[in-house]
Amino acid sequence: MFPTTRLRRLRYNPSVRELVRETRLAPGNFILPLFVRPGEGQRMPIAAMPGNAQLSIDVLADEVREARSLGIGGVMLFGIPAEKDAQGSDAMSGDGIIARAVRAAKQAAPDMLLVTDICCCEYTDHGHCGLLGESTGRMDVENDPTLELLARQALVHARAGADMVAPSGMIDGMVGAIREALDGAGFSHLPIMSYAAKYASAFYGPFREAAESAPQFGDRRGYQMDPAAAAEQAMREIELDLAEGADIVMVKPALPYLDIIRTAADRFPGVPLAAYNVSGEFSMVKAAAERGWIDEQRVALESLTAIRRAGANIILTYWAKDAARWLASP
Ligand code: PBG
Repeated sequence: MFPTTRLRRLRYNPSVRELVRETRLAPGNFILPLFVRPGEGQRMPIAAMPGNAQLSIDVLADEVREARSLGIGGVMLFGIPAEKDAQGSDAMSGDGIIARAVRAAKQAAPDMLLVTDICCCEYTDHGHCGLLGESTGRMDVENDPTLELLARQALVHARAGADMVAPSGMIDGMVGAIREALDGAGFSHLPIMSYAAKYASAFYGPFREAAESAPQFGDRRGYQMDPAAAAEQAMREIELDLAEGADIVMVKPALPYLDIIRTAADRFPGVPLAAYNVSGEFSMVKAAAERGWIDEQRVALESLTAIRRAGANIILTYWAKDAARWLASP
């Protein structure tokens, strides 16, 4: 008790602060999301996500090499096809944007971890995450018919050279369907990082501009989780995905769901946990920083630290490159 115990004694000296620090950030734990589009020599800025751009495949290759040289743990690729249709056919074609991007990125940086997002929304003309139908009495994504599309996407990505696939559509059974398809085609060694607890969040707004994937009608509440659902529902999602063969599970978004990250980390010790620091979390800091209201670097590093402290091992973040540089020379 006071005056014997004085916690400020651990704070006066910067070296003591450093010594007793527990949460550390390292670029090797970051995954950088990248958007790839057709064309050549193109870097089309995404207005709502300053510093990010839709990249043509050749430019993507340079970007992946740069991420590698900064020590970033991996890149997550999102494809934006030239043509969209109701099934998202481009995603299932060996000649589609994502397949070509994976091959080029692998060639440019063979030892960089390439993760691919498996979902239909970037590839469908209606912008939803699967096949549409009315079997539930209202127009929504049809669950089981979508599984086959996701399995086909996974095979295309695997054959192109992806190192890990990341299904993000919140379709029941998606991990099991993808696992089975991969195992049946000689890819039993390929890990799955599942977007296990993904919420129907308004924080994805800027991403939908980036990926041109906003739903053309309705919303995603028929498949993504309700933010007000019991935290235990997120635990059930994670448990099911693990049972279906997920190797890494993700909570998304990150900052508004730190409680979910902490609960998952405690509940599933030893299971690698990822958190997606999503577009809205990134862009609102950028916007405030542009106005001079906050310090971007400090807010970003504090946010990433909070996500790690909550229990995430891996962070998907648009700050991956900046953060790697900031950490190298604070
Ligand atoms: C695709 C997908 C989305 C994000 C990642 N994968 C969008 C969505 O579900 O609407 C969002 C990422 C971000 O906001 O940074 N299903």
